[in-house]
Amino acid sequence: MADVAVALAPVVVVGAGTMGNGIAQTFAASGRRVLLLDANEAALKKGLGAIEKSLGKLVEKGKLDAGARAETLARIVTERAGFPVADCSIAVEAVPEKLEIKRRVFEMLDQLLPPGAILATNTSSISITELAAATTRPARFLGMHFMNPVPLMPLVEVVRGVETDDATIDETVALSKALGKTPVVVADRPGFVSNRVLMPMINEAAFTLMEGVADRDAIDAVMKLGMSHPMGPLALADLIGLDVCLDIMEVLHRGFGDSKYRPCPLLRSMVAAGRLGRKTGRGFYDYGA
Ligand code: CAA
Repeated sequence: MADVAVALAPVVVVGAGTMGNGIAQTFAASGRRVLLLDANEAALKKGLGAIEKSLGKLVEKGKLDAGARAETLARIVTERAGFPVADCSIAVEAVPEKLEIKRRVFEMLDQLLPPGAILATNTSSISITELAAATTRPARFLGMHFMNPVPLMPLVEVVRGVETDDATIDETVALSKALGKTPVVVADRPGFVSNRVLMPMINEAAFTLMEGVADRDAIDAVMKLGMSHPMGPLALADLIGLDVCLDIMEVLHRGFGDSKYRPCPLLRSMVAAGRLGRKTGRGFYDYGA
């Protein structure tokens, strides 16, 4: 009974961008009330719009009925007033990958949430241990790394910081399962497992393109048809965001001090040009306006 109460406790999600709105949607779809916060009013509106669109797609595909769509939307609020913050068992942060911004968010969450609540970050590249150290509860702090698009991807990479205790890991594993996801527990090292393996592949695809080994479509076709990847690495880079890919390569390069992680110059120049992928309408592919 206690487990059910914990599983259905309301949650706070900070950051209404691609990952944050997907995380909020996933919690709400599993029956939890969600307080979705963002410092930027326009981003919050856009995030709610993305959730409506995603739920609409699921209804279109017959994976969700219209009633469940309305109930899921109704569970998400953006105003703190009246939301039962004192009952929250967890907050998940999904703000931009800047240490200072995340630190400030966790200082706020540390004060807002009850002392026993878990603080989780969706970071894909910043040290969990370092973020945990900015709070008064490093034992109740961990990484809950969702994959994009969050409503569809089954994985949650549960990242154990140096101080994270076993109960926090166990509760987050149970919570991830209750969300319909498959949790995998990993240690706090640069890129964890997901991005340490994925990003060098994307970076190498960019080198392959830059060196003229093959063109964009050929590179993606090799990985799709030859390795059964659902998308080629260049299309996937566009989905993730080229700036995010570059940031993660920098983290791997710095964190390991190994030249095998050097970011591809083509990736750097595309980011400098503002060609960030789907979110700016142009990356390796053109998405129109
Ligand atoms: N919400 C709801 N439904 C969605 C959706 C969303 N956000 N996005 C797509 N869909 C639905 C579509 O409507 C479609 O439904 P049907 O199959 O019923 O028609 C279905 O999902 C498939 O979509 P598409 O036809 O557009 O494209 P697809 O078949 O290629 O599938 C995909 C899309 C699921 C994204 C698939 O291509 C895929 O799995 N790609 C790899 C994604 C991946 O690797 N993600 C991890 C990135 S790394 C990361 O996130 C971590 C990090 O730290 C950087």
